[in-house]
Amino acid sequence: MKKLVEKKVIIVTGASSGIGKAVAKYFSLKGCIVYGLSRRTFEEKGIVSLCCDVTNKVQVEETLKKIWQKEKRIDLLVNNAGFGISGSVENESLENIEKMFKVNFFGVVNMTQLALPYLRQQGFGKIINTSSVAGIIPIPFQSFYSATKASVDIFAKALRMEVKPFNISVCNVLVGDTKTDFTAKREKSEKDEKSVYEDVVKKSISKMEKDEQNGKEPITVAKVMFKMFNKKHMPATRTVGGMYKIILFLEKILPQKLMLFIVGKMYS
Ligand SMILES: NC(=O)c1ccc[n+]([C@@H]2O[C@H](COP(=O)([O-])OP(=O)(O)OC[C@H]3O[C@@H](n4cnc5c(N)ncnc54)[C@H](OP(=O)(O)O)[C@@H]3O)[C@@H](O)[C@H]2O)c1
Repeated sequence: MKKLVEKKVIIVTGASSGIGKAVAKYFSLKGCIVYGLSRRTFEEKGIVSLCCDVTNKVQVEETLKKIWQKEKRIDLLVNNAGFGISGSVENESLENIEKMFKVNFFGVVNMTQLALPYLRQQGFGKIINTSSVAGIIPIPFQSFYSATKASVDIFAKALRMEVKPFNISVCNVLVGDTKTDFTAKREKSEKDEKSVYEDVVKKSISKMEKDEQNGKEPITVAKVMFKMFNKKHMPATRTVGGMYKIILFLEKILPQKLMLFIVGKMYS
C-alpha cells in the first residue's frame, strides 16, 4: 500500500501583500498548507489568513497554538513582515526608529522564540527570514532600516548554531529591490524638509523608489525561498538575483573605504 505523504505546513508573516503574499501563494501552489499572518486579513485561495501582529506576543502565542493544535506540525516559519523608514540620522525620531525595530527585528525575535518550542518538540523545522542586501551594505538615509536588517542577519546566524542540535535550520534570504507596496508604505522623516538634508534626502529616496519599482517581481523571492526550503541543508545566507550576488561578492573583496565611497556616490 502507498504511504501517504504528509503535507508540509508553513507559516508566513506579512502575507497580506508583496513578497509575503507571493511566498504564501507559491508554497500553496506547490502543495503546502499555508498560514498567512498579517494585521489585515485577506481572501486568497489556498492560504489561511490569520490576523496576527508580529509585535504582539499574546497574538503570536495564540496564533501558533491554534496552528499547532490543528496541524500538529510546523515545517517552516518565514519571518517576512516588515516596513521601512527613510531620512537622515540626525532628524529621525527615536519613536519611529523604535517602531520599525519593533516589527523588523523584535517581530522576528517574537515569532522565532514562540515557534521554537514547537519545532524542538517535533524534532525538525526550518526558519527563513526575509532579510535585505541593505543589511550587509549600509544605505545612507535608510540607515535605521539597514540596521534592522543587519540585526536580523547576525541574530539568525547565531540562532542557526544554537538550534542545529535540534535539527532546526535557519536561512537569511537577502533581497534586493523588489516591486511591492513597500515603496509606497515607506515612512519618510518630515523633519528633513527644510533642513540641510532636504535636497540630498529627496534625491536619494527618489533613486531608491525608482530602483524598487523597477525591481524584481516578488515571485522571484518566493521561488528562491522554495528552493532553500527543499534543500536538505539550507545555507546560512542566500542572495536573490545575480546582480546582488556580484555586489555582495565585491563588498567582501573591496576595501571598505572604496565600497562606502561607491555607495555614497550612488545615494548621497
Ligand atoms: N520590497 C523591497 O524592495 C524589499 C527589499 C528587501 C527586503 N524587503 C523586505 O521584504 C519584507 C516584505 O516586504 P514587501 O516588500 O513585501 O512589502 P509590503 O508589500 O509592504 O509587505 C509588508 C507586509 O508586512 C506586513 N506587516 C507589517 N507590519 C506588520 C506587523 N506588525 N505584523 C504583521 N505583519 C505586518 C504587512 O501586512 P499588514 O499591513 O496587513 O500587517 C504586509 O503584508 C520586509 O521585511 C522588507 O523589509 C523588501
